[in-house]
Amino acid sequence: MSKGKSVFRCTECGADQPKWGGRCDACGAWNSLVEEALLNRRIGGSADRQVPSDHPPIRLSDISGGQVDRWRTGLAEFDFVLGGGIVPGSVTLVGGEPGIGKSTLLMQCAARLESQGVSTLYVSGEESPDQLRLRADRLEEDAGRIHVLGETRLEAILHHAAQLKSSVVLLDSVQTTYTDELEGAPGNVGQVRECAARLMRFAKESGPAVLLVGHVTKGGGIAGPKTLEHIVDTVLYFEGETTLDHRILRAVKNRFGSVDEIGVFRMTGTGLEPVANPAAAFLAGRTTGASGSAVTALMEGTRPMLVEIQALASKAGFGTPQRVATGLDHRRLALLLAVLERRGGLPFGNLDVFVNVTGGVRLIEPSTDLAILAALVSTVHDRPVPADALFLGEVGLGGEIRPVAGVERRLAEAARQGFRRVYLSARSRGTSDELEVIGLEGIGELTRRLAA
Ligand code: TYD
Ligand code: MG
Repeated sequence: MSKGKSVFRCTECGADQPKWGGRCDACGAWNSLVEEALLNRRIGGSADRQVPSDHPPIRLSDISGGQVDRWRTGLAEFDFVLGGGIVPGSVTLVGGEPGIGKSTLLMQCAARLESQGVSTLYVSGEESPDQLRLRADRLEEDAGRIHVLGETRLEAILHHAAQLKSSVVLLDSVQTTYTDELEGAPGNVGQVRECAARLMRFAKESGPAVLLVGHVTKGGGIAGPKTLEHIVDTVLYFEGETTLDHRILRAVKNRFGSVDEIGVFRMTGTGLEPVANPAAAFLAGRTTGASGSAVTALMEGTRPMLVEIQALASKAGFGTPQRVATGLDHRRLALLLAVLERRGGLPFGNLDVFVNVTGGVRLIEPSTDLAILAALVSTVHDRPVPADALFLGEVGLGGEIRPVAGVERRLAEAARQGFRRVYLSARSRGTSDELEVIGLEGIGELTRRLAA
């Protein structure tokens, strides 16, 4: 094939265009077209040529089993997020910012799998085997049995994986891997997509599970075309503040389990450690008895998590008072302040307001409104809310308090963590034997009760 033949491929949707342009015709994204060399081989052929298949169609009822076998790594939070362990023949992409702990996580998984007799091959295009050894030495797990390979060429990687008959292949990272069959540098859209597709085929045909590390872009997505996430079975994001100990592993796609489940880890001197009581992980370090603090329960997948919201209102200097929200949308804060002012009669006009969600958590659910209000009321009056109180409720523009979903589970978790009373919507149907339930119609009632 003649050299230099190329197409322009959209980094957003993966569509091919014969000519460069400022905008992708397929998805409308701007500045997303990059030049890419075409495949050296020809795919397909005449469409109506009949090719016998090794796998003829079978009836679903003739397929045995139902329960998928899984390899449990024993790293409890990792197994939980995957839905019970690694599924043979599956491809899992683990994305995250540099330094968050992706390589550490994969190395620990490999070590734990080896200790159960599951053979692993750890391929790194980012670190040399010597550097891998240094990392392994820090870990609590014994990583000695893992096969390591410093290689970036996909053909060589697949060859070694097949030779070793590895049950689990860990590849760090998909952006450093390239195939001979495409021109173009590792990490470009075509390379990443082709490598992922070939690994997927390898996993489905030969049966090993593949874990891929993927880098994230500044926007927070995994670098490469969005199609990369479509190709693989499972996509996990590893998040957290590198300056804090906590790390959250979040499933955003999972063909073998539920999505939006999270696992919580702590980065220690000997690797990642699953947090034993994830529901209360973000409450650690809470000082009770201070004003401006309130606790709520979020749903993360099927698990409730308790988080603390802190507010501080102080007299503003000259000019427009400041509104600073960390871990929640500043527009949500503005709305809640307006509601408190108009419906609750608390003036914020000359106060600077700071609201902070502890532990680096981001609030997305409106069910956290009531806790934000409680923290604000508490700081204005400089009166702590009861330390054993939980706040659950969405607040409307009329100052009404609305029920939230999944109350039972949130209350059960709060009771387990030692909470004794809960403020929620009077219309909420959740009850609890262990908690005193305080139903509120509107925020007037909240301010009255917190002031009493
Ligand atoms: P790493 O797994 O290399 O992150 P990534 O592959 O996502 O880029 O590790 C990130 C950080 O974790 C690194 O700064 C060192 C630190 N670390 C520990 O604190 N304890 C340990 O046991 C290990 C192995 C790493
Ligand atoms: Mg790494």
